[in-house]
Amino acid sequence: MVAPREEFLRLLGESLAAGTLIKLTLGRYHGAEATLRNLHVRPVTLRAGPHLSFVWRHAARDITKNHPPAAALAELATLIGGDFGSAHLFTTTQDAQLEFAADATARLKVMPHENLEPPSGEHDRRKQRTILPASPWLHRLGVTTASGAIREGMAAKFKQINRFIELLAPLVQDTPLPSDRPVEVADMGCGKGYLTFATWQYFHHVARRPVHVRGIELRPELAGLCERTARDCGCAGLEFAAGTIANVPAERLDILVALHACDTATDDAIAKGIAAGAALIVVAPCCHKELSPQLTAPAVLAPALRQGIFHEREAEFVTDALRTLLLEWAGYDTRAFEFISTEHTAKNLMIAAVRRTRSPDREAAAGRIRDLAAFYGIKSQTLAHHLGLRLTVA
Ligand SMILES: C[S@@+](CC[C@H](N)C(=O)[O-])C[C@H]1O[C@@H](n2cnc3c(N)ncnc32)[C@H](O)[C@@H]1O
Repeated sequence: MVAPREEFLRLLGESLAAGTLIKLTLGRYHGAEATLRNLHVRPVTLRAGPHLSFVWRHAARDITKNHPPAAALAELATLIGGDFGSAHLFTTTQDAQLEFAADATARLKVMPHENLEPPSGEHDRRKQRTILPASPWLHRLGVTTASGAIREGMAAKFKQINRFIELLAPLVQDTPLPSDRPVEVADMGCGKGYLTFATWQYFHHVARRPVHVRGIELRPELAGLCERTARDCGCAGLEFAAGTIANVPAERLDILVALHACDTATDDAIAKGIAAGAALIVVAPCCHKELSPQLTAPAVLAPALRQGIFHEREAEFVTDALRTLLLEWAGYDTRAFEFISTEHTAKNLMIAAVRRTRSPDREAAAGRIRDLAAFYGIKSQTLAHHLGLRLTVA
């Protein structure tokens, strides 16, 4: 009988030769480098020909090195069962998981699955599409034709869907998520569900992690369309319900997504995510109406903010800045960045928040929030209200 480690190396070599290797991850590192966490390997095509790209993932940075196939396989053979106690191989036809026990005995589990698209090998990841046009739900939602071509007028939507997954994937990879049960995801204000289906597909076919995704949408006809589409396309672990975000029952939640949910619906969603202790919160705010009437121009800005457009943009900035500060107050690290370029929509900001393990200095955080609110004359804001934080000191 072939030993588990040797069989695993054989499967790795075979998938590399057949062009079916998607990726390899090595974990449970116990070598000499204090900050090294794991190693991700994937095939890439460089000018010099096919290579394997090694991404050494350290606590605070990644180091990438590319190796020709033979040298890469030789290095992996020393690492697997050497400094790494586990190895996970993902191919287009099967997954294989190798685990070493403390006494160095190895166990191999091979899990065949339905055929997946072979990796493109493109070195520039941005050109890779995670959501392929052939995905049946894209056709049912009107993005593609029956033959899988992008419909006229839907190219921007298709691009946005893929861009969202490009942004979501590294956030998911860097967030500690449960491995002993399906990851619980809620997309609040999901509309026609394009990004909800995409999130489900990312977990199901790319990250290959058990997932339960719920889409919540105010308009019953959209929730109904999405639910029927999910059932007809066999999307196990994806469901939709009609309802308002504010009435979503408090349930276990690992990832909260709310994209372009109108005005304070974004605040309702963030508050739900915080209350559920979500590890990752991703929002793209839209329709910033709430603070505009309250915004009082600070003296130095008053002449500029007489222009309606500047006033409006300042209100958007203050709203989203307060949201990030409130998330920090609630114990999250936040990042704000561009979601989609302005060629598609002016609402192009995304806020990503990852729950911290250390507790926040709430008093200092509250001080920063109240200072900003006072500077612009803001007395109330929905997320602050949900979190029970007064913006003015009595
Ligand atoms: C602009 S669409 C965005 C849809 C989707 N998230 C996207 O980015 O493609 C906003 C959706 O949020 C829904 N919505 C607004 N307020 C809501 C609320 N309080 N509860 C549930 N859904 C809401 C609207 O009906 C609408 O379908």
